[in-house]
Amino acid sequence: MLKSELREQIMQAHTSRYATKAFDPTKKIAEEDWLTIIESARLSPSSFGYEPWKFLLVNNEEIKEGLKEFAGGAINSINGASHFVIALARKNVTIKSDYVRHIVEDVLGAEFAVDSPRSLYFDNFQKHSQQLTDDRALYDWASKQTYIAMANMMTTAALLGIDSCPIEGFNKAKVEAYLSEKGLVDLDKFGVSYMLGLGYRNEPITPKKRQSLDEILEVID
Ligand SMILES: Cc1cc2nc3c(=O)[nH]c(=O)nc-3n(C[C@H](O)[C@H](O)[C@H](O)COP(=O)(O)O)c2cc1C
Repeated sequence: MLKSELREQIMQAHTSRYATKAFDPTKKIAEEDWLTIIESARLSPSSFGYEPWKFLLVNNEEIKEGLKEFAGGAINSINGASHFVIALARKNVTIKSDYVRHIVEDVLGAEFAVDSPRSLYFDNFQKHSQQLTDDRALYDWASKQTYIAMANMMTTAALLGIDSCPIEGFNKAKVEAYLSEKGLVDLDKFGVSYMLGLGYRNEPITPKKRQSLDEILEVID
């Protein structure tokens, strides 16, 4: 493929991606397309490679119906999207956690010790460079990273001609309590970061309204 064609394809994906308000409930995403979308989340970058996330693909209609009460922004997706994802951000990702040990040893294939140069560098980065000194700051740091996976999923979907809707329109505490009560989320380990509907639109696409490039880009020479 020519570079110019690739550019055009990328721009076409970005202009056709929009926050879909009405999905066609009869249209389902092919399994191989879904696997490509979720793979783009799995391969997303994360700070130190610690992947502070988990994704729930909620197929259960009863669970989705129950969410509507606390997630007004998700109702359109729950009603019609082929796939409905809840992204979880991991809590307490620090050198003291078993989770970091697991990632370092089992995923990154390195030796773990709380006083290794890698651990001390990470600890210093969290406490001093980024001032992640309380639970909420640590959670927000993890949550920020989950949005990289969100963007990758939406762009991958758009490239495949699949629509999406990013969702923050929910009461975090109530959704978390609901999912915890259903035994779906361990709140000691995770919080709910966002939701994402994926499927096929049932409405005309909304034209993009954006600031111009010179309003948002400043070049420092
Ligand atoms: C973090 C985030 C949260 C959002 N939450 C919702 C939501 O709860 N419900 C909804 O319908 N749209 C939601 N949106 C969609 C935005 O309103 C939409 O992306 C924005 O207006 C730009 O329009 P476009 O995506 O169609 O270009 C959200 C978008 C982002 C990035």
